[in-house]
Parts: sequence; C-alpha cells; structure tokens
Amino acid sequence: MHSQDHTLSVFLTDEAATLGMGKTLAPSMRGGLTIFLQGDLGAGKTTLTRGILHALGHQGRVKSPTYTLVEPYVISNLHFHHFDLYRFGDPGEWEDAGFREMFNPDSICLVEWPDKAAGLLPQPDWIIRLEPEADGRRLTLLALTLTGKACLASLTDFPPSPNAA
Ligand SMILES: Nc1ncnc2c1ncn2[C@@H]1O[C@H](COP(=O)(O)OP(=O)(O)OP(=O)(O)O)[C@@H](O)[C@H]1O
Ligand SMILES: [Mg+2]
Repeated sequence: MHSQDHTLSVFLTDEAATLGMGKTLAPSMRGGLTIFLQGDLGAGKTTLTRGILHALGHQGRVKSPTYTLVEPYVISNLHFHHFDLYRFGDPGEWEDAGFREMFNPDSICLVEWPDKAAGLLPQPDWIIRLEPEADGRRLTLLALTLTGKACLASLTDFPPSPNAA
C-alpha cells in the first residue's frame, strides 16, 4: 500500500483482500461522508462495501442494490446508504424517491456508478477506484474534501507497513 496525504493505492490480490481493505477503511469513516465507487462491472465495488459494512458490525447479507438503486442500513446511530445507480435513468426520481435527503450529516453514502446521476449527487469526499490488475484489483482512493482528507489521515494502519505491496 502506498499513500500520500490525499491518495492511497493498494493492490488487492483476491476477494479476501478486497474485503480486508473494507475492514481497514471502515474505522476512518464518519457521518456525512459521501464516497463514489468507480470501476467497471465486476470490479469489486460491492465486495468492498460488504467488507466495510461487516467491519462496522452489520451481520446480515449485503446484497447488490442493482434494482432497488439503494439499500439502507442502520449501524449504531449511523445511517448507511449503499447506492448502485447503474439502472438510474429518471432525474425526477432523485427527488421523488427521497435520495437527496439521504445525503446528510448522519449518514454515510457509498455510491456505485455515480456517473449515472451526474449533476444530482453532492461532491464526493472520497473517490475509490477499482481496476483489474493481474489476477487481482488495484484500489486507488482520492480524498477530495477537508473531511475526506481528515478521514483518510485517521486510517488506523496508516502509514502502512513497509513490506506491503
Ligand atoms: N481483489 C480481487 N481480486 C480478484 N477478484 C476479486 C477481487 N475483489 C473482488 N473480486 C471478485 O470480483 C467480483 C466483483 O463483484 P462485485 O459485485 O463486487 O463487483 P461490482 O464492482 O460491484 O460490480 P457491479 O458494477 O456489477 O455492481 C466478485 O466475483 C469478487 O469475488
Ligand atoms: Mg456492485
């Protein structure tokens, strides 16, 4: 794992590593955070979200909200909204479905396929990109806001051990 003030890059060898990265990131996340998850179909966005939710204490399933567009979770007093906007096509639905209100100081929003609702979403605090590399994935995290940078700086295993990939 390589990291600078505002970015982090890590190679994830397999699914377990993606879940583990979710566990690494989870403790540094706080209410009000908006996170865009970028990457093609099958890149590992939902897998990473699953790792984050389980690390935060969610014990049930984490299913892909491909058809429902959003799946809500409540963990302690925190509302957690996992969006998958791949099938989002009607901007009117943004207001009607109450999506706008889901982005608030008491909730963490993770958004797969944010480009599908460009112009409707707030500015992300983090952009996490997942791309195929060898047999695994490359995860790149960009912290864009003051809040996002502060959260990244609070990563518990930060800075990473020198022998990390
Ligand atoms: N680091 C990794 N290396 C190899 N395979 C991985 C890695 N992380 C996850 N995978 C696998 O890749 C697939 C990713 O599926 P996942 O549903 O998480 O992708 P997604 O980005 O959410 O796709 P979609 O855009 O369709 O929602 C799963 O089969 C998972 O096991
Ligand atoms: Mg997904």
